[in-house]
Amino acid sequence: MIDFQRILTTINEAASKEKNKGKIADYIPELAKVDVNNFGIHLIDNKQQNYSAGNSEERFSIQSISKVLSLSMALGLIGEKIWTRVDVEPSGDPFNHLSLLELENGIPRNPLINPGAIVIADILVSQLENPKEEFLAFVQDIANDDSIDYDVDVANSEKRTGFRNFAAANLLKSYGNLKNDVDVVLDFYFHQCSLSMSCAQLTNTFFMFMNHGKCRRNNIFLTVTQVKRINAIMLTCGFYDEAGEFAFEVGLPGKSGVGGGIVALLPNKFCVSTWSPGLNPKGNSKLGMLALEKLTTETELSIF
Ligand code: DON
Repeated sequence: MIDFQRILTTINEAASKEKNKGKIADYIPELAKVDVNNFGIHLIDNKQQNYSAGNSEERFSIQSISKVLSLSMALGLIGEKIWTRVDVEPSGDPFNHLSLLELENGIPRNPLINPGAIVIADILVSQLENPKEEFLAFVQDIANDDSIDYDVDVANSEKRTGFRNFAAANLLKSYGNLKNDVDVVLDFYFHQCSLSMSCAQLTNTFFMFMNHGKCRRNNIFLTVTQVKRINAIMLTCGFYDEAGEFAFEVGLPGKSGVGGGIVALLPNKFCVSTWSPGLNPKGNSKLGMLALEKLTTETELSIF
């Protein structure tokens, strides 16, 4: 039997000793207020045993990790039609780049880069009567946790400085790949990104991706095929221009956010979340990546 608790404790100790913790994202001013010394890790195994170390109960802004959840909801609502508006190829570019979008006539490379997630947000705005309320209820339902909420200060902070996202949404609109008003779609997108969760809550929420679409209460949210597709997209596109490096070092499907969170999973075995707000130059959590590399190396558990 693998002693997950011992491994997480060791990882937490190593993280607290690390001098260079990376750089906090400050292009969303509200995120810059977070202390770089925070570190948390939480793992749940296939028997629903929980293990944790560090600040695993403290909430942070999940940012781009939310893109997996909006994609899941949209896939449930409109199914395979999604793929006429967004592709499934890695971009090899940072999350906020726009040049490929122009070259490829307004079809984003994948749903986990910003333009792709904005198209998904547009689909949800079209499909839902009260998009922000219904998306939040969807996430709370998966996690079985009504305390999960948006951080409105973070959403408003990004609205004031999200110039590249306004550019992306306008470019999508010029190609006819955005059906609703730019302001309405981005208001939804900034709120979805502002969802605030702890490592423990994030692990609960993503449990279904290691469990063939069934959440911890055994309710079915996604089909086995949909989970296969979403995990594949996380593996190939979850870390932007560092997706190859994450597969190489860690070897799990996962998703990062500029709030410093990472969630990753091994189907049928475990789901794990880390939080360390300092980012590496590619915008992924520096210590989070190191922690997950240690986890999969020590346990010898990865998809490879
Ligand atoms: O759109 C943005 O720039 C942010 N709301 C989300 C970016 C993000 O988390 C990228 N992830 N690593």
